[in-house]
Amino acid sequence: MNAFLNGGWIHYVSMGSPQAMPVVFVHGFPFSQEMWSAQIAPTATRCWAVAYDIRGHGSSDIGDGQYTIEGHVDDLIALLDHLRIPRAVVVGLSMGGYVTLRALARHPDRFLGAVLCDTRSEADSDEGKLKRYEAIRTVKKEGSARFADDFVQLLFARESFTRKPEAVELIRTIIRRTPSLSIAGTLLALASRTDTTGSLGKISLPVLIIVGEHDVITPPASSRSLHERIRKSELHVVPDAGHMTNLENPEFFNEKLLGFLTKVGQSEWNHAG
Ligand code: MLT
Repeated sequence: MNAFLNGGWIHYVSMGSPQAMPVVFVHGFPFSQEMWSAQIAPTATRCWAVAYDIRGHGSSDIGDGQYTIEGHVDDLIALLDHLRIPRAVVVGLSMGGYVTLRALARHPDRFLGAVLCDTRSEADSDEGKLKRYEAIRTVKKEGSARFADDFVQLLFARESFTRKPEAVELIRTIIRRTPSLSIAGTLLALASRTDTTGSLGKISLPVLIIVGEHDVITPPASSRSLHERIRKSELHVVPDAGHMTNLENPEFFNEKLLGFLTKVGQSEWNHAG
């Protein structure tokens, strides 16, 4: 399905009853909603699961190739409005987590709880920014396929290349299909995002934090820092996983996710309903 939001078409999928507790999945960079395929059906057995393609990704419009995390938050809220969802649980991985953290700061009343997967509140360091600018040069010169081949090496734990080759290929294929204009524009959005550490103390919703034990992009230390600052948070370190926890160890990931959704369903959703 598609919704015309903030001047562009945003593609989304939806499964489960719209009467059930809404759960919205926000993917990482530069993926698409397809990365959540192992989570949507299990979530839909008890909730209304919605996953969408962030502007510039998957089947959503590319627009002018200029993006900000703030604009992605506007799109998330516009999607909730479009679907007439007053409050949802939001599940964000990495860039999806950056969007989630800003959405929680700007619109706390639109959420019932949050799942922060392999993400961080800190903005990019100068060194991180310079790496992004280098990546922009490379993707413009050599295209998305080369970017995909390089980037998957960082995304997965070493063992996942033999244990979960289908997950690696799924992500490689999604990145290869993402236009280089969109990858370059999103890299700039990531480099210019704000630091959300100062807002973590204000989050009063239940939050589940998940991180792969071998995540080198947003390492476990960043998740521990989130856990220390978010009052009602629980933290789980996923064994046998790098940055793509939901794909590398879906059994562990889904057990924690579904347990959390049941808890939020009993507290926030029943309470709100
Ligand atoms: C992601 O998975 O969304 C990106 O790796 C995030 C980042 O590069 O900061």
